[in-house]
Amino acid sequence: MSPTSPDRPVVLVSNRGPVSFTLDDDGEPRGRRGAGGLVSGLAPLVAGTSTRWLAAALTPADRVAAERGLVESDGLQVRLLALDEDRFAEAYDVICNATLWFVHHGLFDTAHRPRYDARWRTAWDAYREVNRAFADAVAADAPPDAVVLVQDYHLCLVASALGDRRPDLTLVHFSHTPFAGPDDLARLPTAAAAELLEGMAAHQACGFHTERWASRFTQSCREVLGAAPATFVAPLAADPDDLAGTVARPATATARAELDRLVGDRRFIVRVDRIELSKNVLRGFQAFDDLLDRYPRWRERVVLGAFLYPSREGLPEYLAYRQEVETAIEAINARWATPSWTPVLADLADDYPLSVAALQRSDVLLVNPVRDGLNLVAKEGPLVNDRDGVLVLSREAGAWPELGEAALGINPFDVAETADALVAGLEMADEERAGRAARLRALAGARTPADWLDDQLAAAT
Ligand code: G6P
Repeated sequence: MSPTSPDRPVVLVSNRGPVSFTLDDDGEPRGRRGAGGLVSGLAPLVAGTSTRWLAAALTPADRVAAERGLVESDGLQVRLLALDEDRFAEAYDVICNATLWFVHHGLFDTAHRPRYDARWRTAWDAYREVNRAFADAVAADAPPDAVVLVQDYHLCLVASALGDRRPDLTLVHFSHTPFAGPDDLARLPTAAAAELLEGMAAHQACGFHTERWASRFTQSCREVLGAAPATFVAPLAADPDDLAGTVARPATATARAELDRLVGDRRFIVRVDRIELSKNVLRGFQAFDDLLDRYPRWRERVVLGAFLYPSREGLPEYLAYRQEVETAIEAINARWATPSWTPVLADLADDYPLSVAALQRSDVLLVNPVRDGLNLVAKEGPLVNDRDGVLVLSREAGAWPELGEAALGINPFDVAETADALVAGLEMADEERAGRAARLRALAGARTPADWLDDQLAAAT
């Protein structure tokens, strides 16, 4: 079963929708397809079908679009929900990003955080309200007998909030993040942890990118609820056609030429990430600094390209992290640069064609998250790279079980090991590079976004 030959209608439900709107000169909302793995993978599959996508209105123009009800944009049937702005912000900032994201990625510095006070409890109420609003929209909008695919940690309580209002529907939940095992989950207030798991257990099945996150979820459910719902494992895939389309764009060719000019005949280590605590950007810079320190033969012969884009800047942790990232870049360049060599080439402007050009041009791709649901960049890199690039990959990335055999594995906390792995990548013999790159391409291309979608639909049966 797939949305192109549907047995049952499909409704996708996610916090961030596939389209974001701007207002044209007449005040009319005009949609533009968003970037990001989920959207670039799914949009071509569901465009032109009857699949509906429910998502939150995130901008003022989105709110105007929300007033129009179900709108068509780029072939997608989108319905945006205009939620109370303050309550939505509380749910998104305090619960989704500052609590659940931290719990699932193990990001708390527990000497100081988390700390659950009355403000947090008000925000938890807001999270419930947002989930209830999504459940109401599902109840009102889902076609009869639809399969409803609910995405991610923002929306764990949709099925429980829907209750028995629409027994004709089948709801499946999918987490794009890691999932907290019992020890990490104990960092949530006890009642909230139980409510969260009960909410997820109210779906027909819960999906994850790897067995590891699925089994942690199962362990947490067994410990907290005494039983666990059905789970399935369905790693998302990069979309080769979408990537090929980006590679063919003039903007990508221009960016590539500019990178060729800037990097010259030096080796190029690349990373492409959201400015996100779990992506471990700082230790990546520390590893590069360590590399230049301990392997002087690489001074002036290698450039680190850091293609980073701002994220969740409503949270002080993210603003502070961005500041630390900028300081780290300046410090490395101040320490090592020579008149003819700038060791770190950084771009924080969210330039997608430039990022893809960098992935093409990279000799070593660094993907070192402290914990990551999957990490699509680890799959996109090998698919577009044309230099037999080596992948240095954190064993904590959800993509590790799929790609690890052809990558160089690292413990993301071990800066010295990361530096050594980068050097091993830089100095790998051509034959081994070619062999690994071919395997990486095959592994990264083994699944498509259609497989991921089919797995979710299969979980509904
Ligand atoms: C992760 C999450 C997504 C989220 C994305 C961007 O990939 O799994 O649900 O949309 O990050 O984060 P943002 O908070 O900007 O939507």
